Amino acid sequence: MDWLQTIIVMMMVTLPLVLVLGRRGKAPYPPGPKGLPIIGNMLIMDQLTHRGLATLAKQYGGVFHLRMGFLHMVAISEPEAARQVLQVQDNVFSNRPATIAISYLTYDRADMAFAHYGPFWRQMRKLCVIKLFSRKRAESWRSVREEVDVAVRSVASSAGKPVNIGELVFNLTKNIIYRAAFGSSSQEGQDEFIGILQEFSKLFGAFNIADFIPFLGRVDPQGLNARLARARVALDSFIDKIIDEHVQKSDKRDDGETDMVDELLAFYSEEAKLNNESEDLQNSIRLTKDNIKAIIMDVMFGGTETVASAIEWAMSELMRSPEELKRVQQELADVVGLDRRVEESDFEKLTYLKCALKETLRLHPPIPLLLHETAEDATVAGYLVPKKARVMINAWAIGRDKNSWEEAESFKPGRFLKPGVADFKGSNFEFIPFGSGRRSCPGMQLGLYALELAVGHLLHCFTWELPDGMKPSEMDMADVFGLTAPRATRLVAVPTKRLLCPLL
Ligand code: HEM
Repeated sequence: MDWLQTIIVMMMVTLPLVLVLGRRGKAPYPPGPKGLPIIGNMLIMDQLTHRGLATLAKQYGGVFHLRMGFLHMVAISEPEAARQVLQVQDNVFSNRPATIAISYLTYDRADMAFAHYGPFWRQMRKLCVIKLFSRKRAESWRSVREEVDVAVRSVASSAGKPVNIGELVFNLTKNIIYRAAFGSSSQEGQDEFIGILQEFSKLFGAFNIADFIPFLGRVDPQGLNARLARARVALDSFIDKIIDEHVQKSDKRDDGETDMVDELLAFYSEEAKLNNESEDLQNSIRLTKDNIKAIIMDVMFGGTETVASAIEWAMSELMRSPEELKRVQQELADVVGLDRRVEESDFEKLTYLKCALKETLRLHPPIPLLLHETAEDATVAGYLVPKKARVMINAWAIGRDKNSWEEAESFKPGRFLKPGVADFKGSNFEFIPFGSGRRSCPGMQLGLYALELAVGHLLHCFTWELPDGMKPSEMDMADVFGLTAPRATRLVAVPTKRLLCPLL
């Protein structure tokens, strides 16, 4: 390992010099904990969670700096700095950071979520918004309604017994997205696909020293490369089969029902034709099978755990605040009545239910840290954020900021009834569960629809009790940190039928 020692010694000598010379004449870095030579702040790596960063922000402020090996990181935990990053200077802050694992598993950023900001991303986003997420794609919306119905029936058949709401809603959103993507309502292939996704998720989150000290990538001290290769082969063969089946089926199809793979394949062949004619388009986007696979991954990751965790948190917060739960259920009884199920047209009148969902997203934004990267040097709040820095916008800390929210830690849906209160559409930076600006969530409408429908039906059809005489104050409200921040323990509750009409 002589060469390794030599390189480390060289880095110890040159790195401080590079850092100092590279910053001459520029603003200072934001404040932050002092780091060690070379590794910087890597010893506090375990604090790179929404809670850890919020604690550090109390000490170092709403804009603070960390250095992990060669990588600069800046954490943003206050609304005004978030506005600078997501709105005022969004042209500089709209790239995405990607680890080695993410680059490899997304076919080198062939998707939308991890593509850097630029013409390719713009075209991909346009394609996804028009073809996949638009309200006009009635099939996705239909799959939400039908799968919520399946979930209600499953709960009805367990009336009087404890139901694991966490598992129920994860299954629900997985089925919705699987169906919207692949069109098949059968369980066939789902378990295999979920297994592949789970391995991807672990690899996305796995610590890889080479992300911070790049030359260690060749050495691969943790043996991650072989695992990454296996995971990608598994996804390749799974989706290749699905794509081939779709190609064969598309000739015979006359039911007019299309799923996301059909839409992407149609665009794929249209583009192939157009690309022969137009130089411009050839240079902008050419959809390949890798793009199709990577977009499907985006949709599965973006749409499954986010919505499931929001539904589970909404049910949890309401069960922990019986008075609020009573108020939401009373509104459902008044607006809908107890002799029928909730329908789409009822939702615009279910004001308090919507307030409860907003309050859930404020306290538990499903993606607690928005990850962006700078395309060039920038200045925020008078501090330097260098090119290629990883910028973590702590939506979780911002939603609980005491300067923006009264009784910030309490679940009080009524706050959203007040005139002029912040909304999550993206122009109020104290409330950004869907982000804001260019990289904000393109699946917001679909996500909100699934959230409203699922919680509306679960609360209208059933009354819920905690199991074994547990008191609301005894509920465990801890979360775990990953790509999303779901409950640490699954919510379990006992349903009793509330409606007079049949549910089964
Ligand atoms: C309650 C539900 C949801 C929440 C709270 C949510 C939240 C978010 C957030 C915070 C971002 C990142 C914004 C940023 O980096 O500034 C995001 C991006 C994204 N979301 Fe969602 N999301 C939800 C549902 C969905 C659904 C249902 C889909 C797809 C079916 C989806 C697909 C995506 C994609 C593809 C991106 C990446 C966009 C880009 O990089 O250009 N999301 N979402």
